[in-house]
Amino acid sequence: MKIKSAEFVMSNSNVTNAPKDRIPEYAFIGRSNVGKSSLINMLMERKNLAKTSGKPGKTQLINHFKINDEWFLVDLPGYGYAKVSKKKRTIFQYFIENYFKEREQLVCTFVLIDSRHDPQKIDLEFMQFLGENNLPFCIVFTKSDKLAPTKLDKQIASYKKKLLEFWESEPTNFLTSSSTSIGRDELLNFIDQVNKDVADDFK
Ligand code: GTP
Ligand code: MG
Repeated sequence: MKIKSAEFVMSNSNVTNAPKDRIPEYAFIGRSNVGKSSLINMLMERKNLAKTSGKPGKTQLINHFKINDEWFLVDLPGYGYAKVSKKKRTIFQYFIENYFKEREQLVCTFVLIDSRHDPQKIDLEFMQFLGENNLPFCIVFTKSDKLAPTKLDKQIASYKKKLLEFWESEPTNFLTSSSTSIGRDELLNFIDQVNKDVADDFK
């Protein structure tokens, strides 16, 4: 897919105020600092479309971007991090849960996982939550540039093995790096295909 336009539309803390356009929507979520905003910038080939930071907790709101005037891309706050209280740190914020439960246009969620990390409870639970709500998702392994190739292969293979304890088949997954742009074409082609597959539902 060629990116002809990518514009920021709005930020919200309440899904009811999100843009009303009936176009397919894709959400990017994962632990804080996993590289959600960086991945969005890499996909769009724009340096500062989504705000990034070395400190966790940069993205605080639901951010809608309109791509090619055809689909929405949504940058979400990370789960597993909150300045507010320890209790909130273990669950993702209520407004994010509402977003997933109520956003009808949402056709696929990309759950980002740092390639270097072993499976973490919070990510597995989040995928479980999506499954329980019948929300399709893919896994995006991020920061693949940070590991040597053999170590990377091993890490991803063991992650996939863990997934098969919970899922009958391996969820669709992508290996990416915002530094090298690895995975960009695969991810955009996937979105392109889903857009075609759901076109009838959005007429
Ligand atoms: P929050 O909005 O705080 O939840 O974080 P986020 O998931 O949006 O992460 P963000 O894109 O802000 O990136 C966090 C840090 O990781 C930044 O310092 C990025 O430069 C770095 N980073 C993100 N992706 C990559 C990558 O693919 N490779 C490398 N080497 N660094 C990355
Ligand atoms: Mg962010």
